[in-house]
Amino acid sequence: MAVSSTSRLLNGGARMPLLGLGTWKSEPGVVGKAVSVAIDSGYRHIDGAYSYMNEAEVGAAVKKKIAEGVVTRENLFIVSKLWCTFHALEDVKPSLMKSLSALQLTYLDLYLIHFPVGFQKVPGELFPVQEGKVLVTDIDYVDTWRAMEGLVDEGLVKSIGVSNFNISQLKRLLSIARITPAVNQVELHPYLTQPELVEFCASKDIALTAFSPLGSPGRALLNDSADPKDLLKDPVVKTIAEKHKKSPAQVLLRFHVQRNIATIPKSVTPARIQENAEIFDFELMDEDLQSLLALNRNWRVCQLTLLQDHQFYPFKDP
Ligand SMILES: NC(=O)c1ccc[n+]([C@@H]2O[C@H](COP(=O)([O-])OP(=O)(O)OC[C@H]3O[C@@H](n4cnc5c(N)ncnc54)[C@H](OP(=O)(O)O)[C@@H]3O)[C@@H](O)[C@H]2O)c1
Repeated sequence: MAVSSTSRLLNGGARMPLLGLGTWKSEPGVVGKAVSVAIDSGYRHIDGAYSYMNEAEVGAAVKKKIAEGVVTRENLFIVSKLWCTFHALEDVKPSLMKSLSALQLTYLDLYLIHFPVGFQKVPGELFPVQEGKVLVTDIDYVDTWRAMEGLVDEGLVKSIGVSNFNISQLKRLLSIARITPAVNQVELHPYLTQPELVEFCASKDIALTAFSPLGSPGRALLNDSADPKDLLKDPVVKTIAEKHKKSPAQVLLRFHVQRNIATIPKSVTPARIQENAEIFDFELMDEDLQSLLALNRNWRVCQLTLLQDHQFYPFKDP
């Protein structure tokens, strides 16, 4: 089955493919090739962000695939994210326009508030730091959301959503939102299953996208509670993979799509990009899903502990 045939309906009526290509840490010089290989392999969802600093190359690769007739713009689902330095109302639209211009697109399928905490604007700095502290602001993400809604009104984005929001932040947002967030993109994998958040989002028809679905192997260790390489080598994951004659990565990705959760593995390696797409030709059994869920240890790759004293720091809840 083609990967593009498996998508989920968002609350605003658009469809989001359940498999997307992650592009964080995909360096300029290689990210374009990764996007091309992904589109050739059937991916129709590309996850990006202003802060990944590679949108121009992503956009060029997308444009080339459209020009070659491999795919149409309408069949693609392109995501970007509003970075923390642009939370002020007047900065939201200019920030989107920067991403659209880099991507050479006239609209995005989904635009997310990347993180609930805002940072001060310091020219050229994604993480403005002074004396070891990130220069944060108190701008309320609820106000940022009103500007995000304006982008939908203007037809510049089809859907809007959030990323790294916890349940209380979603509740606060829902209490004022004219447009319900379509998606919450959060870290999810068998070591961080977040059952309350998954249930809450389902109850509000907010779709989830799982980032770092492989546990972000190869990433510098940001958390000393587990080795980030463990997830792909976990004996339970390996046993399930052997049973289905699939790779551990394919099991970890199938774990999400089978639960109607989108997932966006990052790779710049053509063989892995292809491997990660081959997840629609097998089915995990209920007992497999239960075994994977039982691996939960509330272990996060992405903690951003530098921000933990901020009122909008989202990771205090388990
Ligand atoms: N919203 C947010 O705050 C947020 C935060 C983190 C990530 N994200 C998004 O989620 C995407 C994925 O997360 P991530 O990059 O942290 O981690 P990930 O997708 O869990 O892991 C990526 C790593 O796994 C390797 N890999 C990929 N496929 C593999 C396979 N089949 N077998 C073995 N290794 C494999 C990649 O190596 P190679 O590239 O060398 O092949 C890369 O080192 C990001 O790229 C980004 O788009 C969003």
